[in-house]
Amino acid sequence: MTIGTKASPRRRGLPYVGHTLAYIRDPLAMMQSHYDRSGPVSDINFIGKRWTVLLGPDACEAALRNADKAFASGDGWGYLVGPFFDRGLMLLDFEEHHRHRRIMQSAFTRERLQGYTEALQPAVIAGLERWDSAEHFRAYPALKGLTLDLATTVFMGGVDLASTEEMARVNQAFIDCVQSATALVRLNLPGTRWRRAIRGRALLEEFLGRHLAAKRANPGTDLFSVLCQITTDDGERFSDEDIVNHMIFLLMAAHDTSTITVSTMMQHLGQHPEWQRRCREEALALPEHPTMAELDGLEAIDLVMKESLRLVPPVPVLARKTVKETEVLGHTIPADRLVAVMMHLSHHLDELWPDPEQFDPERFADDRREDKIHRYAWEPFGGGVHKCLGMFFAGAEVKTILVHLLRRYSWTVDPAYRAPMNYHSLPFPKDGQPVHLTRL
Ligand code: HEM
Repeated sequence: MTIGTKASPRRRGLPYVGHTLAYIRDPLAMMQSHYDRSGPVSDINFIGKRWTVLLGPDACEAALRNADKAFASGDGWGYLVGPFFDRGLMLLDFEEHHRHRRIMQSAFTRERLQGYTEALQPAVIAGLERWDSAEHFRAYPALKGLTLDLATTVFMGGVDLASTEEMARVNQAFIDCVQSATALVRLNLPGTRWRRAIRGRALLEEFLGRHLAAKRANPGTDLFSVLCQITTDDGERFSDEDIVNHMIFLLMAAHDTSTITVSTMMQHLGQHPEWQRRCREEALALPEHPTMAELDGLEAIDLVMKESLRLVPPVPVLARKTVKETEVLGHTIPADRLVAVMMHLSHHLDELWPDPEQFDPERFADDRREDKIHRYAWEPFGGGVHKCLGMFFAGAEVKTILVHLLRRYSWTVDPAYRAPMNYHSLPFPKDGQPVHLTRL
């Protein structure tokens, strides 16, 4: 331990499960309690291991900026979801990560994003046309179905790729892989989430592997085709195996995150009719198929998106593991320690945000910019070298869905409603988030 630093305070919790159950029940309350009692750096038992927990913007920043390259992403996320998202970009580190990210960046240029955004428009319209007025419309599963259709269209190049039944199996395979994250039993035993995830991964590998040769031979403009084609200036490209690994990770990274973002936006717009009116006016002023630039120009919808990402960050915690001893805010963290970068709390700290539990999109308006109080006060897309590569695509997708939704439907949500969230993996509302939906 470096002279002048100290070990992190430790709160053990229950044997083996430690603080896992408290996290799943109410992650924000669990984080706040640790922050209040033990400060920004403390140790807990979580899913069978000892973790150092980083809370508050300074501690999160230290790990994400990773100045001394002590924090590895692959071994951290690997413990949670490793077997299922193995060798996805987020699970690679240092030189290798840099090389793969450089190749993948060519799939996320402004020009490519414009192409994906064009493909999104008819797919979103077709999906939303299938919705109908209902007093208790379960918005979350409907949105999840919609974003899966978008993944099939924009990511894989068309619904004709597979039958509806096969796509349903692919969807289930993703859900099984993502749900493995907080599984307490991490063994391939009958009936466990872990086993379902292992089977899910095998199904996805087989499915993508089967379509890969055709994508190489007859590429379209979808992301799968693009990953098969891209080459850097130095001639570097992805192998078949890389493409399957990256596709599995990208589908996961893009799917639940965008779904929960739109779902949170729908909840708040249903509870705040004045914001819904404002956003609808903006949506109606756009052409039927808005371009990326037109989506970028949306103001009210952008403010609501940012505020929704603050209130419910789709990835509340980032995982890391130390590859060597390091120090955060005067606390020594030994080598080989799992580290939880709990950014969710920063989005709710009252030392950073006035009235943090209040839905107040104007806090992101130019004349207030409350997020500027700290570079890491609002980081739903992470920070440092692993910062979300799909951030601009996510914005275009979320806004496209909102624009078409606002044009076709209005909806209300009881102002007293609080979504009962499930935090077994990425957050989602357990009750499917009912809204009173009316076709316009
Ligand atoms: C609202 C939607 C989204 C949110 C909130 C989100 C959030 C995040 C976060 C927090 C990270 C950093 C993880 C870490 O540092 O450990 C990340 C990484 C990543 N995301 Fe997203 N994401 C979203 C949508 C997307 C979409 C749509 C795509 C792809 C089309 C995508 C692709 C990626 C990739 C490739 C990485 C790994 C980057 C790297 O390790 O270099 N994400 N995302």
